[in-house]
Amino acid sequence: MKTIETTFAGLKLKNPIIVSSSSLTNSAEKNQKLCEAGAAAVVLKSLMEEQIHLDVEGMEDNDPFVVGGNDLTAYMLEYKMDEYFTMIRDTKRVVDIPVIASINAYDESNWVSFAKKIEDAGADAIEINILALQTSLDYQYCAFEQKHINILKLVKNVVNIPIIMKLGDNFTNPVALIHQLRAHGAAGVVLFNRFYPTDINIDKVEQCAGKPFTTEDDLSKALRWTGIASAAVSNYSFAISGGVHNAAGVVKSILAGASAVEVCSAIYQRGNAVIKEMTDGLTEWMNTHTMDDIAMFRGMLNQQYRNEGINTFERTQFMKYYGRFKK
Ligand SMILES: Cc1cc2nc3c(=O)[nH]c(=O)nc-3n(C[C@H](O)[C@H](O)[C@H](O)COP(=O)(O)O)c2cc1C
Repeated sequence: MKTIETTFAGLKLKNPIIVSSSSLTNSAEKNQKLCEAGAAAVVLKSLMEEQIHLDVEGMEDNDPFVVGGNDLTAYMLEYKMDEYFTMIRDTKRVVDIPVIASINAYDESNWVSFAKKIEDAGADAIEINILALQTSLDYQYCAFEQKHINILKLVKNVVNIPIIMKLGDNFTNPVALIHQLRAHGAAGVVLFNRFYPTDINIDKVEQCAGKPFTTEDDLSKALRWTGIASAAVSNYSFAISGGVHNAAGVVKSILAGASAVEVCSAIYQRGNAVIKEMTDGLTEWMNTHTMDDIAMFRGMLNQQYRNEGINTFERTQFMKYYGRFKK
């Protein structure tokens, strides 16, 4: 009997397609539709602490009677958190798949009580995203990595549900960080979160937003690091996020070592039907390649794989590749 069931971060999934955190998952109604379309799990839109601070600043700027400061921030935080817990409860009522809450941690202090309430509201897991640029001239090497471990430890102390760490791609050595996160009890990692894309408009000579969505080409980065990390930190849960646009992307992710994929851009661009296209395509590929289940090929092409002694995930310089493009 062939099956596309999988397990990620201790969660049993009917297939590897998780809808990743974004406005796609910011209401129970949308999550119900994603579930009906075949999603195996949803990661709710992140509650962003930074956004709450910006909202408070906006209220202060627009209304002279609003006196901001810590009280207002605390009030807004409480208010937004309550809204978030309601979304978790409402989603749980209408879906029969795991519901993963998402915390965008910006400051280590506030999130601990939040995490506990997320668990109490019925979330099946928590995904922590600590996406931030590191630009300080006084930056101490490893400080950002240590922040991940500190936040994980704080949350781990108060919840029993699995904790998933969604990493940015701005680490020198994600493998070492993943090894540490595992040692400190993270149930799995997602490679990678995506920075807000920026661009420059040369006609207006001003900064502007870049393209919001990924393309298939973006998958390469996560394939490399999942391939390397899944070999080094074996028997661990990896999900790929970033550039999974079709069934081929799902198959490649699993071959590199992922147990699941988190999909966002493809659903924004082509609708919920993409989920079934992906699961159908995955099943078809497994039939053609006589794979009975995900475990049979997960990590088959990770860093341990060699083709004539070479593993391309380890390659950094182009070398011979340039030779093929002689003018
Ligand atoms: C409009 C938009 C909103 C997003 N919001 C969040 C968010 O709230 N939290 C988060 O962790 N990632 C967020 N992301 C990142 C996605 O979850 C995902 O990791 C990223 O887009 C890469 O996956 P993709 O190639 O399937 O788009 C957002 C992405 C987009 C395009």
